[in-house]
Amino acid sequence: MDKPAQAKTSLAYALDAISRMAAQPDEAAHAADPAIYTSEALLDHEQEQIFDHEWACVGRADELPNRGDYMTTMVGRTPVIVNRRKDGSLGAMANICAHRLAAVAEGRGNMPRFVCPYHAWTYEEDGRLLGAPHMPKDFDKKACGLDPLALEIWNGYIYINPDPDAAPLADRLEPLTALFRNYRLGDMRIMHKATEVWEGNWKVATENFIESYHLTVVHAQSIGHLAPMQAISMAEEGPGYAFHRVQAPPEFIQSMPGSLQKPNPDISDEERMTIYAGCVFPNHLFTVQHDQVTWMRTQPISTDKTLIEWGIAGAYDWPGDEPDPEHPEFYYMREMPHVNAEDRAVVASVQIGAKSGRKLPGRLHPVEHGILTFARYLDTRLRGPENTL
Ligand code: FES
Ligand SMILES: [Fe+2]
Repeated sequence: MDKPAQAKTSLAYALDAISRMAAQPDEAAHAADPAIYTSEALLDHEQEQIFDHEWACVGRADELPNRGDYMTTMVGRTPVIVNRRKDGSLGAMANICAHRLAAVAEGRGNMPRFVCPYHAWTYEEDGRLLGAPHMPKDFDKKACGLDPLALEIWNGYIYINPDPDAAPLADRLEPLTALFRNYRLGDMRIMHKATEVWEGNWKVATENFIESYHLTVVHAQSIGHLAPMQAISMAEEGPGYAFHRVQAPPEFIQSMPGSLQKPNPDISDEERMTIYAGCVFPNHLFTVQHDQVTWMRTQPISTDKTLIEWGIAGAYDWPGDEPDPEHPEFYYMREMPHVNAEDRAVVASVQIGAKSGRKLPGRLHPVEHGILTFARYLDTRLRGPENTL
């Protein structure tokens, strides 16, 4: 070990480690210094510089189909309510009561307005204060409301940004919008969603998702057969995202009699054979396929714990509210819990290695290039939100 352990947890050391990682050449990059996964000072800085100013994915728009449907979640350190409003649009606001900061809603459900459980201040669907029991006559309701938050829908996913001055998300994602257009991700329908806590830094979980070098090894018992190494190549990378592609084997697209899959005349044969996987930084990891999208959102809890929400949406029309998990076409609904358990175990293992403080000079494989792109994104963002992507 080349430095005392305490110095390695300092913010200055961790920021320098990310800058050194980001400055490496594309062809011969090495893995990150483990300090970036263990420094508490860095996590605080990430919350301030990244999650307080970034577009974070919180789920899919079709999770909230009806007027009054709402869900609560966190974007970085900000508790959030997302709800479907009278005019059919989705809106977001801070889930922080204007009286004395309590959460006005919890979980998910259907509410035409929100009543704070602390002193019963009542808010309209858009956060305007409707009533505040027993307050003095000179109290100005208009001055108190739930803080509105910026919201964008992209490819069927809801993104929220706590920073009212943030630049729009869609502009920065134009190349990805074009790449995924024919897959019609916004028309897919949610099939499954789950929440887990993983024993690893949020960046370890991110780096694991944005490379498929590990697929035939970690996922040998599940989906490894879909991605032999020669089928993997880098696809679209930019300052705010990194995606690679896998050319799938022919059996991947075999259709079955009585298929529930929606016809998609837009998609080419090549697109039907291609799987894309990657991340819209900082927290939206997803895999695009002709018949479904699987995604994961990360939410840091501590340096070595991450809330993982993951789900599957499909290009299917199934009868009723819930898809039948035994239907032969819905193999991903049966497979993904195993795949995620495999990833979860390896993420925990990496975190234990990182905590040892030992810096090892691992070289990245060319199909792990997204990890270098992620480091460059972190480096830009951690220098301050005014640094545009
Ligand atoms: S904190 Fe919400 S009504 Fe008092
Ligand atoms: Fe994996």
